Amino acid sequence: MTENHFHTVRQTLLAQMEEGVAIIVAASPKTRSNDTEYPYRQNSDFYYLTGFNEENAILVLVKTAALTHTLLFIEGYNADYALWNGARLSLEEARQRFLVDDVHERSHYAVSIAEVLREHTRLYLDLYSEAPALTEAKKAAHALHHTRGVKRHIRTLIDVTHLIHTLRLIKTPGEIAMIRHAIGITLHAHHEAMRVCRVGMKEYQLQAAMNYVFLHNGAHSEAYGAIVAGGNHANTLHYIDNQDVLREGELVLIDAACEWECYASDITRTFPINGTFSPAQREVYNAVLNVQLAVIEAIKPNVKREWLQTYSEELLCDALIHLGVLSEDRTALMEAKAYKKYAPHGIGHWMGLDVHDPCPYVDEAGESLFLQEGMVMTIEPGLYFRADDESVPLEYRGIGIRIEDTILVTEKGYENLSAGIVKTIEAIEAMCKN
Ligand code: GLY
Ligand code: MN
Ligand code: MN
Repeated sequence: MTENHFHTVRQTLLAQMEEGVAIIVAASPKTRSNDTEYPYRQNSDFYYLTGFNEENAILVLVKTAALTHTLLFIEGYNADYALWNGARLSLEEARQRFLVDDVHERSHYAVSIAEVLREHTRLYLDLYSEAPALTEAKKAAHALHHTRGVKRHIRTLIDVTHLIHTLRLIKTPGEIAMIRHAIGITLHAHHEAMRVCRVGMKEYQLQAAMNYVFLHNGAHSEAYGAIVAGGNHANTLHYIDNQDVLREGELVLIDAACEWECYASDITRTFPINGTFSPAQREVYNAVLNVQLAVIEAIKPNVKREWLQTYSEELLCDALIHLGVLSEDRTALMEAKAYKKYAPHGIGHWMGLDVHDPCPYVDEAGESLFLQEGMVMTIEPGLYFRADDESVPLEYRGIGIRIEDTILVTEKGYENLSAGIVKTIEAIEAMCKN
Protein backbone atom coordinates (compact mmCIF):
# COMPACT_ATOMS: atom_id res chain seq x y z
CA MET A 1 0.00 0.00 0.00
CA THR A 2 1.16 3.52 -0.65
CA GLU A 3 2.23 6.17 1.85
CA ASN A 4 -0.83 8.13 0.70
CA HIS A 5 -3.00 5.31 1.93
CA PHE A 6 -1.56 5.46 5.46
CA HIS A 7 -1.69 9.27 5.43
CA THR A 8 -5.40 9.11 4.61
CA VAL A 9 -6.00 6.59 7.41
CA ARG A 10 -4.27 8.89 9.91
CA GLN A 11 -6.33 11.86 8.71
CA THR A 12 -9.50 9.81 9.13
CA LEU A 13 -8.54 8.96 12.70
CA LEU A 14 -7.72 12.61 13.40
CA ALA A 15 -11.12 13.60 12.04
CA GLN A 16 -12.76 11.21 14.55
CA MET A 17 -10.82 12.70 17.47
CA GLU A 18 -11.77 15.68 19.56
CA GLU A 19 -8.96 18.10 20.36
CA GLY A 20 -6.21 16.18 22.06
CA VAL A 21 -3.19 13.94 21.61
CA ALA A 22 -3.20 10.30 20.46
CA ILE A 23 -0.25 7.98 21.01
CA ILE A 24 -0.01 4.65 19.17
CA VAL A 25 3.05 2.50 19.78
CA ALA A 26 4.76 -0.18 17.73
CA ALA A 27 5.10 -3.65 19.22
CA SER A 28 8.16 -4.40 21.32
CA PRO A 29 10.28 -7.43 20.49
CA LYS A 30 9.24 -10.50 22.53
CA THR A 31 11.80 -12.77 24.17
CA ARG A 32 11.54 -16.40 23.11
CA SER A 33 14.25 -17.73 25.40
CA ASN A 34 17.38 -16.28 26.95
CA ASP A 35 18.58 -13.70 24.43
CA THR A 36 16.65 -14.87 21.37
CA GLU A 37 13.39 -13.38 20.19
CA TYR A 38 10.21 -14.50 18.44
CA PRO A 39 9.94 -13.34 14.85
CA TYR A 40 8.77 -9.75 15.08
CA ARG A 41 5.11 -9.00 14.45
CA GLN A 42 4.02 -5.37 14.35
CA ASN A 43 1.14 -4.10 16.49
CA SER A 44 -1.78 -4.19 14.03
CA ASP A 45 -3.11 -0.75 15.01
CA PHE A 46 0.31 0.82 14.53
CA TYR A 47 0.69 -0.90 11.16
CA TYR A 48 -2.80 0.25 10.15
CA LEU A 49 -1.76 3.86 10.67
CA THR A 50 1.81 3.74 9.34
CA GLY A 51 2.63 0.61 7.32
CA PHE A 52 5.89 0.70 9.29
CA ASN A 53 7.37 -2.56 10.49
CA GLU A 54 10.07 -1.41 12.89
CA GLU A 55 9.96 -2.11 16.61
CA ASN A 56 9.73 0.56 19.33
CA ALA A 57 8.46 3.30 17.02
CA ILE A 58 5.80 5.72 18.29
CA LEU A 59 3.17 7.65 16.38
CA VAL A 60 1.79 10.83 17.95
CA LEU A 61 -1.24 12.58 16.48
CA VAL A 62 -2.03 16.06 17.73
CA LYS A 63 -5.27 17.88 17.11
CA THR A 64 -6.10 21.44 18.12
CA ALA A 65 -8.94 23.69 16.99
CA ALA A 66 -6.65 25.21 14.38
CA LEU A 67 -4.47 22.36 13.12
CA THR A 68 -3.33 18.78 13.20
CA HIS A 69 0.23 17.60 13.58
CA THR A 70 1.70 14.11 13.21
CA LEU A 71 5.00 13.00 14.71
CA LEU A 72 6.85 9.75 14.35
CA PHE A 73 9.55 8.69 16.79
CA ILE A 74 11.92 5.98 15.54
CA GLU A 75 15.01 4.19 16.81
CA GLY A 76 17.01 5.48 13.85
CA TYR A 77 20.11 4.04 12.21
CA ASN A 78 22.60 2.37 14.52
CA ALA A 79 25.74 0.72 13.10
CA ASP A 80 25.93 -1.99 15.76
CA TYR A 81 22.27 -2.91 15.32
CA ALA A 82 22.79 -2.92 11.56
CA LEU A 83 25.72 -5.33 11.91
CA TRP A 84 23.64 -7.90 13.79
CA ASN A 85 20.12 -7.36 12.53
CA GLY A 86 20.18 -5.14 9.45
CA ALA A 87 19.82 -1.41 9.00
CA ARG A 88 16.94 0.47 10.54
CA LEU A 89 15.63 3.54 8.72
CA SER A 90 17.62 6.67 9.38
CA LEU A 91 15.76 9.85 10.34
CA GLU A 92 16.39 11.24 6.90
CA GLU A 93 15.05 8.12 5.16
CA ALA A 94 12.00 8.18 7.42
CA ARG A 95 11.40 11.87 6.68
CA GLN A 96 11.47 11.12 2.98
CA ARG A 97 9.25 8.08 3.21
CA PHE A 98 6.49 8.90 5.67
CA LEU A 99 4.00 11.67 5.03
CA VAL A 100 4.20 12.88 8.64
CA ASP A 101 5.03 16.39 9.81
CA ASP A 102 8.05 15.46 11.95
CA VAL A 103 10.34 12.50 12.55
CA HIS A 104 12.39 12.37 15.75
CA GLU A 105 14.62 9.89 17.50
CA ARG A 106 12.97 7.61 20.01
CA SER A 107 15.38 8.88 22.64
CA HIS A 108 13.81 12.37 22.37
CA TYR A 109 10.30 11.09 22.98
CA ALA A 110 10.00 11.59 26.76
CA VAL A 111 10.98 15.27 26.52
CA SER A 112 8.93 15.90 23.38
CA ILE A 113 5.74 14.29 24.65
CA ALA A 114 5.90 16.39 27.83
CA GLU A 115 6.08 19.50 25.64
CA VAL A 116 3.13 18.36 23.54
CA LEU A 117 0.95 17.37 26.49
CA ARG A 118 1.23 20.71 28.30
CA GLU A 119 -1.14 22.20 25.70
CA HIS A 120 -3.83 19.53 25.99
CA THR A 121 -6.54 18.07 28.21
CA ARG A 122 -7.32 14.82 26.35
CA LEU A 123 -5.02 11.87 25.82
CA TYR A 124 -6.00 9.03 23.50
CA LEU A 125 -4.11 5.80 24.08
CA ASP A 126 -4.51 2.07 24.49
CA LEU A 127 -5.81 2.12 28.08
CA TYR A 128 -4.82 -1.47 28.70
CA SER A 129 -1.32 -1.50 27.22
CA GLU A 130 1.75 -1.44 29.41
CA ALA A 131 4.01 -0.24 26.62
CA PRO A 132 6.88 1.85 28.04
CA ALA A 133 6.05 4.79 25.76
CA LEU A 134 2.58 5.04 27.26
CA THR A 135 3.92 4.86 30.79
CA GLU A 136 6.35 7.66 29.91
CA ALA A 137 3.47 9.75 28.56
CA LYS A 138 1.36 9.20 31.68
CA LYS A 139 4.34 10.10 33.88
CA ALA A 140 4.83 13.30 31.89
CA ALA A 141 1.13 14.11 32.20
CA HIS A 142 1.27 13.41 35.93
CA ALA A 143 4.28 15.70 36.37
CA LEU A 144 2.52 18.51 34.47
CA HIS A 145 -0.53 18.04 36.66
CA HIS A 146 1.63 18.94 39.69
CA THR A 147 3.46 21.82 38.06
CA ARG A 148 2.24 25.29 38.99
CA GLY A 149 1.55 27.62 36.12
CA VAL A 150 0.96 24.96 33.47
CA LYS A 151 -1.94 26.18 31.37
CA ARG A 152 -3.62 22.79 30.90
CA HIS A 153 -3.24 19.23 32.01
CA ILE A 154 -4.57 15.88 30.87
CA ARG A 155 -7.96 15.35 32.46
CA THR A 156 -9.40 12.67 30.18
CA LEU A 157 -7.91 9.38 29.04
CA ILE A 158 -9.71 7.93 26.03
CA ASP A 159 -9.38 4.45 24.55
CA VAL A 160 -7.92 5.11 21.11
CA THR A 161 -8.21 1.44 20.16
CA HIS A 162 -12.00 1.68 20.03
CA LEU A 163 -11.78 4.49 17.46
CA ILE A 164 -9.19 2.60 15.43
CA HIS A 165 -11.02 -0.72 15.58
CA THR A 166 -14.21 0.94 14.41
CA LEU A 167 -12.35 2.36 11.42
CA ARG A 168 -10.80 -1.05 10.76
CA LEU A 169 -14.29 -2.51 10.25
CA ILE A 170 -14.51 -1.11 6.73
CA LYS A 171 -11.64 -2.21 4.55
CA THR A 172 -10.26 0.10 1.88
CA PRO A 173 -9.56 -1.20 -1.63
CA GLY A 174 -5.84 -1.29 -0.73
CA GLU A 175 -6.50 -3.45 2.33
CA ILE A 176 -8.78 -5.76 0.34
CA ALA A 177 -5.95 -6.20 -2.18
CA MET A 178 -3.63 -7.35 0.65
CA ILE A 179 -6.22 -9.84 1.91
CA ARG A 180 -6.76 -11.11 -1.64
CA HIS A 181 -3.03 -11.64 -1.99
CA ALA A 182 -2.83 -13.63 1.25
CA ILE A 183 -5.80 -15.75 0.16
CA GLY A 184 -4.24 -16.31 -3.28
CA ILE A 185 -1.19 -17.92 -1.67
CA THR A 186 -3.33 -19.83 0.83
CA LEU A 187 -5.35 -21.22 -2.09
CA HIS A 188 -2.23 -22.87 -3.53
CA ALA A 189 -1.27 -24.19 -0.09
CA HIS A 190 -4.64 -25.89 0.49
CA HIS A 191 -4.60 -27.40 -3.01
CA GLU A 192 -1.04 -28.61 -2.42
CA ALA A 193 -2.08 -30.29 0.85
CA MET A 194 -4.88 -32.12 -0.99
CA ARG A 195 -2.49 -33.22 -3.75
CA VAL A 196 0.30 -34.53 -1.52
CA CYS A 197 -1.82 -36.11 1.22
CA ARG A 198 -1.33 -39.89 1.58
CA VAL A 199 -2.39 -42.45 4.17
CA GLY A 200 0.46 -42.88 6.68
CA MET A 201 1.83 -39.36 6.41
CA LYS A 202 2.05 -37.23 9.54
CA GLU A 203 -0.17 -34.20 10.11
CA TYR A 204 2.91 -31.99 10.36
CA GLN A 205 4.00 -33.12 6.91
CA LEU A 206 0.86 -31.56 5.43
CA GLN A 207 1.59 -28.44 7.46
CA ALA A 208 5.13 -28.45 6.05
CA ALA A 209 3.81 -28.75 2.49
CA MET A 210 1.62 -25.71 3.09
CA ASN A 211 4.35 -23.71 4.80
CA TYR A 212 6.57 -24.38 1.80
CA VAL A 213 3.96 -22.73 -0.41
CA PHE A 214 3.64 -19.78 1.99
CA LEU A 215 7.38 -19.18 2.15
CA HIS A 216 7.98 -19.91 -1.52
CA ASN A 217 5.52 -17.13 -2.34
CA GLY A 218 7.01 -14.62 0.08
CA ALA A 219 4.48 -14.97 2.89
CA HIS A 220 6.85 -15.41 5.80
CA SER A 221 4.23 -15.97 8.45
CA GLU A 222 1.17 -18.06 9.11
CA ALA A 223 -1.78 -15.86 10.08
CA TYR A 224 -2.34 -18.13 13.11
CA GLY A 225 -1.13 -21.50 14.34
CA ALA A 226 -2.17 -24.08 11.75
CA ILE A 227 -4.66 -26.79 12.67
CA VAL A 228 -3.98 -30.03 10.79
CA ALA A 229 -6.33 -32.47 12.45
CA GLY A 230 -6.66 -36.04 11.22
CA GLY A 231 -9.78 -38.04 12.14
CA ASN A 232 -11.13 -37.46 15.64
CA HIS A 233 -8.60 -34.66 16.31
CA ALA A 234 -10.88 -32.43 14.21
CA ASN A 235 -13.22 -32.46 17.20
CA THR A 236 -10.67 -30.62 19.29
CA LEU A 237 -11.43 -27.13 18.02
CA HIS A 238 -8.00 -25.62 18.61
CA TYR A 239 -5.92 -28.73 17.88
CA ILE A 240 -2.45 -27.43 16.98
CA ASP A 241 -0.40 -30.45 17.99
CA ASN A 242 -0.30 -31.76 14.40
CA GLN A 243 1.87 -34.74 15.35
CA ASP A 244 -0.38 -37.72 14.61
CA VAL A 245 -0.38 -40.09 11.65
CA LEU A 246 -3.03 -39.69 8.93
CA ARG A 247 -5.12 -42.85 8.83
CA GLU A 248 -6.96 -44.78 6.12
CA GLY A 249 -10.66 -43.98 5.91
CA GLU A 250 -10.44 -40.75 7.95
CA LEU A 251 -10.80 -37.09 7.08
CA VAL A 252 -8.28 -34.37 7.74
CA LEU A 253 -9.43 -30.88 8.74
CA ILE A 254 -6.94 -28.16 7.82
CA ASP A 255 -7.48 -24.65 9.19
CA ALA A 256 -4.37 -22.86 7.97
CA ALA A 257 -3.58 -19.64 6.14
CA CYS A 258 -0.85 -17.09 5.64
CA GLU A 259 -0.44 -13.41 6.30
CA TRP A 260 0.59 -10.85 3.68
CA GLU A 261 1.94 -7.46 4.76
CA CYS A 262 0.31 -8.08 8.17
CA TYR A 263 -3.08 -8.83 6.54
CA ALA A 264 -4.54 -12.24 7.39
CA SER A 265 -6.38 -14.94 5.57
CA ASP A 266 -8.33 -17.68 7.38
CA ILE A 267 -9.39 -20.79 5.47
CA THR A 268 -10.53 -24.27 6.47
CA ARG A 269 -11.01 -27.27 4.24
CA THR A 270 -11.79 -30.84 5.26
CA PHE A 271 -11.00 -33.69 2.88
CA PRO A 272 -10.54 -37.48 2.84
CA ILE A 273 -7.01 -38.67 3.56
CA ASN A 274 -7.29 -41.43 0.94
CA GLY A 275 -8.88 -39.07 -1.58
CA THR A 276 -12.43 -40.48 -1.52
CA PHE A 277 -15.24 -39.52 0.89
CA SER A 278 -17.07 -42.45 2.49
CA PRO A 279 -20.90 -42.36 2.33
CA ALA A 280 -21.15 -41.18 5.97
CA GLN A 281 -18.48 -38.54 5.43
CA ARG A 282 -20.31 -37.32 2.30
CA GLU A 283 -23.53 -36.89 4.25
CA VAL A 284 -21.95 -34.82 7.01
CA TYR A 285 -19.78 -32.88 4.57
CA ASN A 286 -22.70 -31.89 2.37
CA ALA A 287 -24.75 -30.96 5.42
CA VAL A 288 -22.04 -28.51 6.54
CA LEU A 289 -21.46 -27.27 2.99
CA ASN A 290 -25.17 -26.54 2.46
CA VAL A 291 -25.28 -24.53 5.68
CA GLN A 292 -22.19 -22.60 4.63
CA LEU A 293 -23.54 -21.85 1.14
CA ALA A 294 -26.91 -20.72 2.53
CA VAL A 295 -25.34 -18.38 5.09
CA ILE A 296 -22.96 -16.89 2.52
CA GLU A 297 -25.87 -16.39 0.13
CA ALA A 298 -27.64 -14.30 2.79
CA ILE A 299 -24.78 -11.80 3.07
CA LYS A 300 -25.53 -8.28 1.87
CA PRO A 301 -25.54 -4.75 3.25
CA ASN A 302 -28.13 -3.98 5.94
CA VAL A 303 -28.40 -7.56 7.16
CA LYS A 304 -27.78 -7.70 10.91
CA ARG A 305 -24.65 -9.65 11.72
CA GLU A 306 -26.41 -11.22 14.67
CA TRP A 307 -29.12 -12.51 12.32
CA LEU A 308 -26.47 -14.44 10.36
CA GLN A 309 -25.51 -16.17 13.61
CA THR A 310 -29.10 -17.11 14.42
CA TYR A 311 -29.77 -18.20 10.84
CA SER A 312 -26.69 -20.43 10.90
CA GLU A 313 -27.81 -22.01 14.18
CA GLU A 314 -31.22 -22.80 12.69
CA LEU A 315 -29.62 -24.33 9.62
CA LEU A 316 -27.17 -26.39 11.70
CA CYS A 317 -30.04 -27.56 13.89
CA ASP A 318 -31.98 -28.66 10.77
CA ALA A 319 -28.86 -30.42 9.47
CA LEU A 320 -28.51 -32.33 12.75
CA ILE A 321 -32.18 -33.36 12.59
CA HIS A 322 -31.71 -34.43 8.97
CA LEU A 323 -28.65 -36.53 9.92
CA GLY A 324 -30.62 -38.18 12.71
CA VAL A 325 -28.33 -36.81 15.42
CA LEU A 326 -31.14 -34.72 16.94
CA SER A 327 -34.67 -35.97 16.84
CA GLU A 328 -36.95 -33.69 18.83
CA ASP A 329 -38.88 -30.79 17.38
CA ARG A 330 -36.91 -27.85 16.13
CA THR A 331 -38.43 -25.15 18.34
CA ALA A 332 -37.54 -27.07 21.50
CA LEU A 333 -34.05 -27.85 20.16
CA MET A 334 -33.43 -24.19 19.31
CA GLU A 335 -34.61 -23.07 22.72
CA ALA A 336 -32.43 -25.63 24.48
CA LYS A 337 -29.56 -24.80 22.10
CA ALA A 338 -29.19 -28.57 21.70
CA TYR A 339 -27.14 -28.10 18.51
CA LYS A 340 -24.35 -26.39 20.52
CA LYS A 341 -22.99 -29.76 21.59
CA TYR A 342 -22.16 -30.56 17.97
CA ALA A 343 -21.68 -27.01 16.65
CA PRO A 344 -20.11 -25.14 19.55
CA HIS A 345 -18.49 -22.15 17.86
CA GLY A 346 -19.87 -19.05 16.17
CA ILE A 347 -20.49 -18.73 12.44
CA GLY A 348 -17.52 -16.42 11.91
CA HIS A 349 -15.65 -13.27 12.81
CA TRP A 350 -14.28 -10.07 11.32
CA MET A 351 -10.92 -10.55 9.63
CA GLY A 352 -8.26 -8.09 8.52
CA LEU A 353 -4.95 -7.13 10.08
CA ASP A 354 -5.79 -9.67 12.78
CA VAL A 355 -7.25 -13.04 11.96
CA HIS A 356 -9.85 -12.27 14.62
CA ASP A 357 -10.10 -8.57 13.84
CA PRO A 358 -10.89 -6.70 17.07
CA CYS A 359 -13.58 -4.54 15.44
CA PRO A 360 -16.87 -4.05 17.29
CA TYR A 361 -19.79 -6.40 16.73
CA VAL A 362 -22.39 -4.14 18.35
CA ASP A 363 -23.08 -0.42 18.45
CA GLU A 364 -23.04 1.85 21.50
CA ALA A 365 -26.52 0.65 22.44
CA GLY A 366 -25.35 -2.95 22.35
CA GLU A 367 -27.33 -3.65 19.16
CA SER A 368 -25.77 -5.90 16.54
CA LEU A 369 -24.13 -4.00 13.68
CA PHE A 370 -25.61 -4.15 10.22
CA LEU A 371 -23.37 -5.44 7.45
CA GLN A 372 -21.88 -2.74 5.27
CA GLU A 373 -19.91 -2.70 2.06
CA GLY A 374 -16.21 -3.21 2.81
CA MET A 375 -16.60 -5.46 5.85
CA VAL A 376 -14.65 -8.72 5.69
CA MET A 377 -15.62 -11.78 7.70
CA THR A 378 -15.28 -15.51 7.78
CA ILE A 379 -18.17 -17.92 7.42
CA GLU A 380 -17.14 -21.20 9.01
CA PRO A 381 -19.86 -23.61 10.08
CA GLY A 382 -18.79 -26.94 11.47
CA LEU A 383 -20.22 -30.15 12.85
CA TYR A 384 -18.18 -32.14 15.33
CA PHE A 385 -18.99 -35.71 16.34
CA ARG A 386 -16.53 -37.06 18.87
CA ALA A 387 -15.48 -40.69 18.52
CA ASP A 388 -16.66 -41.42 22.07
CA ASP A 389 -20.04 -39.65 21.76
CA GLU A 390 -22.71 -42.32 22.00
CA SER A 391 -25.47 -39.82 21.29
CA VAL A 392 -24.31 -39.80 17.65
CA PRO A 393 -25.11 -42.53 15.08
CA LEU A 394 -22.16 -44.93 14.94
CA GLU A 395 -21.20 -44.15 11.35
CA TYR A 396 -20.69 -40.44 12.14
CA ARG A 397 -18.57 -40.86 15.26
CA GLY A 398 -15.07 -39.47 14.87
CA ILE A 399 -16.07 -37.13 12.03
CA GLY A 400 -15.37 -33.42 12.48
CA ILE A 401 -15.94 -31.06 9.57
CA ARG A 402 -15.53 -27.31 9.21
CA ILE A 403 -15.61 -25.34 5.98
CA GLU A 404 -14.36 -21.76 6.19
CA ASP A 405 -14.19 -19.00 3.60
CA THR A 406 -13.43 -15.29 3.77
CA ILE A 407 -16.26 -13.07 2.54
CA LEU A 408 -16.25 -9.41 1.50
CA VAL A 409 -19.51 -7.49 1.80
CA THR A 410 -20.08 -5.63 -1.48
CA GLU A 411 -22.53 -2.92 -2.54
CA LYS A 412 -25.12 -5.43 -3.72
CA GLY A 413 -24.24 -8.56 -1.77
CA TYR A 414 -20.98 -10.35 -1.22
CA GLU A 415 -17.82 -11.65 -2.83
CA ASN A 416 -16.36 -14.92 -1.60
CA LEU A 417 -12.66 -14.01 -1.66
CA SER A 418 -11.67 -17.67 -1.28
CA ALA A 419 -14.14 -19.07 -3.82
CA GLY A 420 -11.24 -20.49 -5.84
CA ILE A 421 -10.31 -23.04 -3.17
CA VAL A 422 -12.05 -26.29 -4.10
CA LYS A 423 -15.00 -27.09 -1.89
CA THR A 424 -17.51 -29.45 -3.50
CA ILE A 425 -16.99 -33.17 -2.96
CA GLU A 426 -16.33 -33.71 -6.68
CA ALA A 427 -13.77 -30.89 -6.90
CA ILE A 428 -11.99 -31.99 -3.71
CA GLU A 429 -11.78 -35.63 -4.81
CA ALA A 430 -10.45 -34.52 -8.19
CA MET A 431 -7.81 -32.33 -6.49
CA CYS A 432 -6.81 -35.18 -4.17
CA LYS A 433 -6.26 -37.45 -7.17
CA ASN A 434 -4.39 -34.74 -9.08
N1 GLY B 1 -8.37 -20.08 12.42
C1 GLY B 1 -9.07 -19.52 13.50
C2 GLY B 1 -10.47 -19.39 13.21
O1 GLY B 1 -10.98 -20.00 12.30
O2 GLY B 1 -11.17 -18.62 13.80
MN1 MN C 1 -11.95 -18.25 11.45
MN1 MN D 1 -9.83 -20.67 10.68
